[in-house]
Amino acid sequence: MKAIALLPAAGSGSRMNSPRPKQYLDLNGRPLIWHTLLALHAVPELARIVVVLSAGDEWWETFDWSGFARLTVLRCGGDSRAESVKNGLDALRAAGEAQDEWVLVHDAARPCLAPELVSGMIGELGYHPVGGILAVPVADTLKLAGEGQSIARTHPRDGLWQAQTPQMFRLGMLADCLGQGMGPDITDEASALEKAGHTPQLVMGSPWNLKVTYPQDLQLASLILAAHAERNR
Ligand code: CTP
Ligand code: MG
Repeated sequence: MKAIALLPAAGSGSRMNSPRPKQYLDLNGRPLIWHTLLALHAVPELARIVVVLSAGDEWWETFDWSGFARLTVLRCGGDSRAESVKNGLDALRAAGEAQDEWVLVHDAARPCLAPELVSGMIGELGYHPVGGILAVPVADTLKLAGEGQSIARTHPRDGLWQAQTPQMFRLGMLADCLGQGMGPDITDEASALEKAGHTPQLVMGSPWNLKVTYPQDLQLASLILAAHAERNR
């Protein structure tokens, strides 16, 4: 089973409070996105790895990417993550990729992804009619905030999962669903499929597969990558 990885990497990382986009922040001596690409290159099922940058990105060419043989770079990022993904999918279609090709959309900002999880999800979803996403069951008790940060009530967590990436769907179906609207309610690929009436599958992810969003997440990612490197020595 072969698939394509598509990495939206056209964000500015505003919540990191850093002058450079977070995908280029230093993480254990390499730009953050380098670790994400390394993890994806370790997945044999991924025939192509496609990065979507913003048109004005001046950081990419300041690093050496020659070690990544299956990489394609597109400079067609949009104003939102969904638009960046849609533009990337349209470019793949225009370049002749088949409509039924599996595409795994993965946040550039999730550098601690374990390659085995990706191979596992491709194996699990390869014959699924829709596709699915990595996710983890919610562990903490959930509170709904009321006035003045008081607790209005406890929200039952039964059946609640936190969505992660990769999110694996067929190229044509995903592009069509995103094409039906990319408003604020479309916060991941699965939500676009759900809105169109499809039923994506949940595949067990990992708490290590965190998205670097706030400055402290960078420290956490650094520790996780160091632990992975130690385990693989
Ligand atoms: N992304 C993108 N195009 C955008 C916005 C986001 O390709 N217009 C990408 C980011 O580069 C990131 C992924 O989508 O890899 C997840 O988004 P997020 O974590 O929200 O990153 P940013 O939008 O860059 O961060 P922030 O929301 O804090 O500004
Ligand atoms: Mg964002």
